[in-house]
Amino acid sequence: MTTTEQPFGIDFGGTGIKGAPVDLDTGEFAAERVRIRTPEKSTPKNVAEVFADLLAQFPDCHGAVGVTVPGVVRHGVVHSAANIDKSWVGTDADRVFTDATGREVHVVNDADAAGLAEVRYGAAKGRSGLVIVTTLGTGIGSAMVYDGVLVPNSELGHLEIDGHDAESRAANSARERDDLSWHHWAKRLTTYYRTLERLFSPELFVVGGGVSKESDQFLPLVDIDTEIVPATLLNKAGVVGAALYASEGGGVLHDD
Ligand code: BGC
Repeated sequence: MTTTEQPFGIDFGGTGIKGAPVDLDTGEFAAERVRIRTPEKSTPKNVAEVFADLLAQFPDCHGAVGVTVPGVVRHGVVHSAANIDKSWVGTDADRVFTDATGREVHVVNDADAAGLAEVRYGAAKGRSGLVIVTTLGTGIGSAMVYDGVLVPNSELGHLEIDGHDAESRAANSARERDDLSWHHWAKRLTTYYRTLERLFSPELFVVGGGVSKESDQFLPLVDIDTEIVPATLLNKAGVVGAALYASEGGGVLHDD
């Protein structure tokens, strides 16, 4: 595959928008990643302008473009916006971004993108059965992947546990907000992962999000029966997963 045909991944986050072409054989960036600050008012229109600028920095890349969004995405339309500008809800993001960039753009939930990347190239590579990838950040994102096939939009961060929206207690932002020790946070995580365990009996949990860099501090304290491991792609997972998703035309992926 030549560089020009490689898919391009964009990770749209609260503070930064990161993008790079991706080599799907290796799961590595095919060129140095570019990061642009997220506009203060991160409406679809403002963000689309940043995407156009970002893609203009890679004039030799003509492949499909994948974009992560921290919300439910069905057929390119964003259906929820827990931690982003509410104007995203109801937006046909595939269309807005395709029109703004002149490229074929496919939008995917951020955790689903990370999940696809971890299953194809990272911590869950070669694993069969049900793998649940969770991202611990501002919210909790989740991806359920069964034998390499994604069941999109699982939204397990919004399970109600003890009368609370789970992410409001167990996300990394809750640890910071409540100034929790690793030990105390791990107790909340134990409650969270025990609930997932009871409901889904997965083979493996993979824990991503920025804080997974420090997994040594808290994962050993999470007391559950299922194997639980840190993500390995770290801050590359969104870009790589988005590119992977776009390369399949935004459809179902098989890990083969
Ligand atoms: C959103 C999910 C998202 C997760 C991580 C949650 O609040 O509902 O769609 O994947 O945060 O960003």
